[in-house]
Amino acid sequence: MKVDVLLGLQWGDEGKGKIVDVLAPRYDIVARFQGGPNAGHTLEFDGIKHVLHQIPSGIFRPSAKNVIGNGVVLDPIVFKAEIEKLDKFKMDVRANLFISKKATLIVPTHRLLDQAYEKAKGEDKIGSTLKGIGPSYQDKIGRQGLRVGDILSNTFFDKFKKLVNTHFEILKGHDIEYDWVALEGQFLEAVTFLKSFKLIDSEYLINQELSKGSSILAEGAQGSLLDIDFGSYPFVTSSNTVTAGACTGLGVAPRNIGEVYGIFKAYSTRVGSGPFPTELLNEEGELLRKQGNEYGSTTGRPRRCGWIDLPSLKYSIMINGVTQLLMMKADVLSIFPTIKVCTHYQLGDGTVTQTVPYEIVNEKITPVYTELPGWQTTLSGGAEQAMPQALLSYIEFLERELNVPITLVSTGPDRLQTIHRPVKKG
Ligand code: GDP
Ligand code: IMO
Ligand code: MG
Repeated sequence: MKVDVLLGLQWGDEGKGKIVDVLAPRYDIVARFQGGPNAGHTLEFDGIKHVLHQIPSGIFRPSAKNVIGNGVVLDPIVFKAEIEKLDKFKMDVRANLFISKKATLIVPTHRLLDQAYEKAKGEDKIGSTLKGIGPSYQDKIGRQGLRVGDILSNTFFDKFKKLVNTHFEILKGHDIEYDWVALEGQFLEAVTFLKSFKLIDSEYLINQELSKGSSILAEGAQGSLLDIDFGSYPFVTSSNTVTAGACTGLGVAPRNIGEVYGIFKAYSTRVGSGPFPTELLNEEGELLRKQGNEYGSTTGRPRRCGWIDLPSLKYSIMINGVTQLLMMKADVLSIFPTIKVCTHYQLGDGTVTQTVPYEIVNEKITPVYTELPGWQTTLSGGAEQAMPQALLSYIEFLERELNVPITLVSTGPDRLQTIHRPVKKG
């Protein structure tokens, strides 16, 4: 068997959590490979909504093992709070959860540094979730980070002190207030809690399971347009959110990657700063936000909303090698008599292109739109034939443009509001 990868093709929040939960019964393992508590993955079933930040979205399916891979940054405090929430649902989370000893630890000063750096940037701030993602990956790449496996060593406290002391030096130059005694106490308590979990060399688990024929789903966080290399730098996150990230973030060889599920909303959203060519700063944008309940799952911030952007989607499909597309939130567009699709960008010098420009941050981009009729019908989430003709036409238009089949359409937040479309062969 191979490792299938599911990842976001836009700026995050595409609905990855919901679909990982829907697909998880088909898989023996669900694994996170990058990102950390900046992620907010929402799942809904039996009338209950769950938001996961650190734990893979296969956790509610008892048949699946869940792995937090080496490419992840893990905040023990967030992790502890999340587990305690799940414990209320009488689940045996510990039995099915495996954490890589090579995952990077987020310490409380990483969060303080995140705040300090954002504050120093002023108007140019990234709009970070302030979870310490950038500073913890910085320490990993700078070869001074702490890893989950370090908590098992009796020199851990000394290493921790050494690291936070380097952070205190930096923080002296910033105007950030904090109560270190409280933060340290909370962190050390959470580290003790973390020790009671299965801390493993997850690359061995993943590869041994592959050899046994187990099926594995890698769950992306954020979105391809927030990738550290391919996103709208510097308005990005600090990890590789694309398919290749699953190889380094889990220890999977490229030849062992199977299906790549690319998930996108039927429109676009972005939270935080940075370019967004199809953003609607008008009533239509407000309507999308209201109808789609577009508020961040991690920070509660209102999401910026706009029409679908095909040049960006094509770029993400190319980088990720997407084999199947999954379209989310089709129900949200039900209110619009006409739906706009951005097919090209017109640049400041008048050039019309489908290529995402290097200067995306500074370039003046005017979207070139095609209009399609809306369906203006409430979508119930039934079988494919229940889909209105205008929705089918929208799907087929996108399939032709993007040249990848759309094999799933989501019509609501619940597990059951999901329409599977057969994969066309040939
Ligand atoms: P993720 O980060 O990719 O997992 O996505 P989020 O959970 O941050 O955001 C997606 C939001 O859309 C969540 O509130 C979901 O419950 C909701 N959602 C997912 N699919 C659908 C859908 O098809 N229709 C509607 N209306 N909401 C959806
Ligand atoms: P999920 O997995 C949407 C955005 C932030 C900010 C930028 C950098 O739920 O789709 P960071 O905290 O990583 O330093 O923030 O990236 N961002 C997300 N936006 N969904 C996410 O995750 C995100 N994780 C980070 O808003 O613009
Ligand atoms: Mg999210």
